[in-house]
Amino acid sequence: MKKWWMEAIGYQIYIKSFKDGNNDGIGDLKGITDKLDYLHLLGVNLIWITPFYDSPMDDNGYDVRDYFKVADCYGSIDDFKILLSKAKKLNIKVILDFVLNHTSDEHNWFLESRKSKNNPYRDYYIWQKPKVIDGMNHPPTNWGSFFGGSAWKYDEITNEYYMKIFSDKMPDLNWKNDKVIESMIDIGKWWLDLGIDGFRLDAVSHLSKAPFEDSKFSNDIVLDWFKFSNLPNNHTYLNKMYEGLFKPYDVFTIGEVGGQASIDEAIKYSAFKSNELSMVFNFDHNWHNNIHDILDLKDLKVNVLALKETLNKWQETFKKIGWLPLNWLNHDQPRLVSHYGNQNYHNESAKMLATIMYLSRGTPFIYQGEEIGMTNFPFNDLSQIDDISTLNSVKNQISKNPDNSQAIIDKALMTTRDHPRTMMQWDDTKFAGFSEVKPWFHVNPNYKIINVKDQMNDSSSIWSYYQKLFSLRRFSKYSNTLIYGTYEMIHKDDPNLFIYLRKSDNEKILVMGSFSSQNQSFDTSNYPILEVIIQNYDDISIENQIINLRPYESISYKVKEQK
Ligand code: NOJ
Repeated sequence: MKKWWMEAIGYQIYIKSFKDGNNDGIGDLKGITDKLDYLHLLGVNLIWITPFYDSPMDDNGYDVRDYFKVADCYGSIDDFKILLSKAKKLNIKVILDFVLNHTSDEHNWFLESRKSKNNPYRDYYIWQKPKVIDGMNHPPTNWGSFFGGSAWKYDEITNEYYMKIFSDKMPDLNWKNDKVIESMIDIGKWWLDLGIDGFRLDAVSHLSKAPFEDSKFSNDIVLDWFKFSNLPNNHTYLNKMYEGLFKPYDVFTIGEVGGQASIDEAIKYSAFKSNELSMVFNFDHNWHNNIHDILDLKDLKVNVLALKETLNKWQETFKKIGWLPLNWLNHDQPRLVSHYGNQNYHNESAKMLATIMYLSRGTPFIYQGEEIGMTNFPFNDLSQIDDISTLNSVKNQISKNPDNSQAIIDKALMTTRDHPRTMMQWDDTKFAGFSEVKPWFHVNPNYKIINVKDQMNDSSSIWSYYQKLFSLRRFSKYSNTLIYGTYEMIHKDDPNLFIYLRKSDNEKILVMGSFSSQNQSFDTSNYPILEVIIQNYDDISIENQIINLRPYESISYKVKEQK
């Protein structure tokens, strides 16, 4: 099977922080339009834009108030039409972030729903009576929410609780109600008729909920993923979306399936023969370091073996039956070089990480700023944080464990979702060229040394390397092998080197990257070098067929066939 999206290079745009087109300090649609030529030059031909619907912005737009309207701060539908038409001219496909699991509590459906128990919209959401113990009202179950606290919120108008697995202002929709599904299909059609090419489906593993019984994990409030992740009816609902929307429009869909999606579930969602989605983003490879066990980032260590095992497991499972996105991170995780690279080898480690991920089998999806090796922000105080999930969960943890508050805050500052949300670093002018006025959020102080403008003018920069990698995939004599070739990891037990082969009928390409700051060696006698395809040092250090890999070195070469 061959599809346009298998050959694409995807780029995620977190709109609020990407580029401010009207100088009000907030990224917007015009800003994206202004940067489409830039993305085209980088080699990107598919963009995923995070939500820009009308929203009170409790969760930066993932709380939708009106799916048919653009948030004022991001522009207008006309701005979006201009963006689309320019993208079409440049052959860049555009996908929208479609939020299916919840709306804002300011969405009309919810305003109606909460009015009375017999309102026609009551069943658009999930309402339950309080559990009364000793005459006191309690949430219907002990389920916790992702952002901290209970997954239920009391609403006094009807004396019932509504479910909300994210923030209080994000009530969950009731997917048992076919009207919800029909409404979502109508919304999807409306955007597809405007000319978009597909959707990234937000939080899509959580649509179905378990029967409302307490979690056995704790007597207290507890986040129990099993109560609302990857349950059987999720497939039924997605199949309805597929039949009613994705199939008739023949669109590309990529679901966000957090919630410990087992590979078996992922196959159901997105194998070639599945009638649900084209691909899924999973998060199994996102936290393979010791970040949750340390108090100082200088102690950060990547668990290379675990990372290899996870990535290989997904590749092996999907090798004949489906297709994977290739991504390191998104707007919810720390920055790539800070998380999996090494600041002392900033340039080398950024390039190495790009090499091993984006030459694998699948569709690359990079996150804005990754192409210049943007890093985490040096947060040192909670007052610098904007993210609702970080703030809520810190508050919650401290309420349970007040003596430990500083450690809780320090930890949160290391892992907060705000790291990837600082302003895109376009140049070395004030506010990093993001805006002419003070932006809504921080600019990383390293923008004078890490920025797009400098890196575009430097053929040895991370940016130039990403451009070369993408061009290798899209336009080179190796494209066919790099896109459709098989994937086979070798030297699985090596704790420093990540090595695999891509093979097609007539060629074999070896891709290798070192996660070590010490020299490592690799014996090429079974894989002799015919032609080097891409490397992150200026030369290769090889003697008697043994490559001496310097810190974070990566090399990809065509292997000479042996008789
Ligand atoms: C997943 C998104 O990536 C995240 O940013 C958001 O907070 C939740 N879904 C809720 O929509």
